[in-house]
Amino acid sequence: MTRTDLDRPTWVRSYAGRHGRRSALTDERLARFLPVRGIPDGPLDPVAVFGRAAPLVLEIGCGHGAAAIAYAVAHPGQDVLAVDVHQPGVARMLAAADATGVENLRVHLGDAVRLLTDQVAPSSLAAVHLFFPDPWPKVKHAKRRFVTAHTLQLVQDRLVPGGHLLVATDQGRYAAHVLAELARHGGYDVVVGERPAWRPTDGFEAKGLAAGRSITEIRATAVTEAPFRRGSRI
Ligand SMILES: C[S@@+](CC[C@H](N)C(=O)[O-])C[C@H]1O[C@@H](n2cnc3c(N)ncnc32)[C@H](O)[C@@H]1O
Repeated sequence: MTRTDLDRPTWVRSYAGRHGRRSALTDERLARFLPVRGIPDGPLDPVAVFGRAAPLVLEIGCGHGAAAIAYAVAHPGQDVLAVDVHQPGVARMLAAADATGVENLRVHLGDAVRLLTDQVAPSSLAAVHLFFPDPWPKVKHAKRRFVTAHTLQLVQDRLVPGGHLLVATDQGRYAAHVLAELARHGGYDVVVGERPAWRPTDGFEAKGLAAGRSITEIRATAVTEAPFRRGSRI
């Protein structure tokens, strides 16, 4: 990877144009629960937001939140921030989180790249989860895939040393794309095939399996700074 790769325009819309139709129920849930579980604008202060210092996990594109809630419940010693742009999904997640009573979960309604860029401090995340991202299978849409040279660098920068990125997908082409981008990046140690036991099996995973697709599980551990950064210090 070259510096030029990382200096390309960095923001692309990795989600469909509409953020979901807002029903009265969605409006009611967002108005009721977002003030409780949302995060303030500006630099993220995890201690202020969660009321303690604990490893922080970010789930990107959490949808209706089943995985984020399950992770938070299974890991009470960690804190979870879940982000998505899709308003009905986030509203549903907020209601489910309230029903569960899970305390170590906060939610951001917005774009994950902007969140990581503008609000999350370097070396502050223990892990980043990206489960069943929008696959954008057509070649003409490939630039919309969330995993790019830029987002891999951004995530690595926000991870603590030794932190990891988990990706799961039921789309073979997307899995190949992620593995190729990780190899090109070079700053992650990649293991394929470990399914996290805590993740619920519903949703896209169940649908993919029912359709005869296999699930690719990728764990990418940040092992070093990206090559261009090492070089730039010399
Ligand atoms: C295919 S859905 C998967 C949802 C969830 N992870 C699941 O497994 O059910 C992908 C989600 O990623 C969200 N998404 C895509 N790009 C995003 C971005 N840049 N920031 C926040 N959310 C994003 C979409 O809105 C959508 O809800």
